[in-house]
Amino acid sequence: MTLQSELQATIAELVDGQRGILAADESGGTIAKRFASVGVESTEQSRRSYRSALLTSEELGEYVSGVILFEETLGQCDDQGIPLAQRAAAQKILPGIKVDRGKGPLPGALGDTITFGLDGLGERLRGYKKLGARFAKWREVYPLGPENPTELGLHANAEVLARYAAVCQREGVVPIVEPEVLMDGNHSIERSAAVNERVWHSVFHALHRHGVILELMLLKPSMVTPGSECARAEPQQVAEYTLRSLRRAVPAAVPSIHFLSGGQSPEEATANLNALNRLGNAPWQLSFSYGRALQQPALAAWRGREEHICAAQGALVRRARLNHLAMLGQYRD
Ligand code: 13P
Repeated sequence: MTLQSELQATIAELVDGQRGILAADESGGTIAKRFASVGVESTEQSRRSYRSALLTSEELGEYVSGVILFEETLGQCDDQGIPLAQRAAAQKILPGIKVDRGKGPLPGALGDTITFGLDGLGERLRGYKKLGARFAKWREVYPLGPENPTELGLHANAEVLARYAAVCQREGVVPIVEPEVLMDGNHSIERSAAVNERVWHSVFHALHRHGVILELMLLKPSMVTPGSECARAEPQQVAEYTLRSLRRAVPAAVPSIHFLSGGQSPEEATANLNALNRLGNAPWQLSFSYGRALQQPALAAWRGREEHICAAQGALVRRARLNHLAMLGQYRD
């Protein structure tokens, strides 16, 4: 198989007009916070049981075509000794892997951040591929403030995302490009629209410079919403602003847009995706790659108890199904 046809096959399996992606790739610190919120200690064993439960949820494969794993999970097996990535693949959920190594301040750009992990990325990807990973994810984070992101922040983050995506494609791994503009703050929806648009322009400019094939990548952006300290906007308004900005900045060659949930409630994230799909006529598939908005109800049902696993799986599959309906514009609150 040529590199291109390998990437094309992965895109075809991920993008089928019906299903989204489950983000289950929380880093050590983040999963510890999520577990603490339901009174569970984060250990190798508790992370394995929880994520193993998620991936083996019956019928999840009807609504989810891919799962993003953390490196640790890619190396873990279930109680029968079957690799978790294989359990996912058995229900037609492609395993993917988060490959960035977290973020820190960007020197020279006060308030902006930059993500680490480019060194040795090609070699790491070859290893992940052997363990079953077919796609990857890299997140750049853009705090939104009166002075941020700065011009330097925009340029540096876009450059890193493009370098990551180019390495992935060279290794036959489909890159998910995730520029996350944070919801934190008291900014208006208009400001969020303007900033997201600038971020996407800079990212696609960099992807072009680095020769990334747009047909063989996926975009994982934020939705355009007011800051989290402001009143929530109606789904119709979020959808209109988001689609307008995406149309201005994202080439039609990109096959699918998989939104992150970024602190929206599960219900909000579904209602907004539904409104986006009801607008119609977008040149890309509009789908989901939610972490919190898919997992929150499952985590709350589980609370670390073996006997609650079924309920947790039911809660996850329910949210996945509702988001599948939102992709079709058929979700009703
Ligand atoms: P949220 O949907 O919780 O924002 O997570 C998605 C993700 O993968 C962030 O990198």
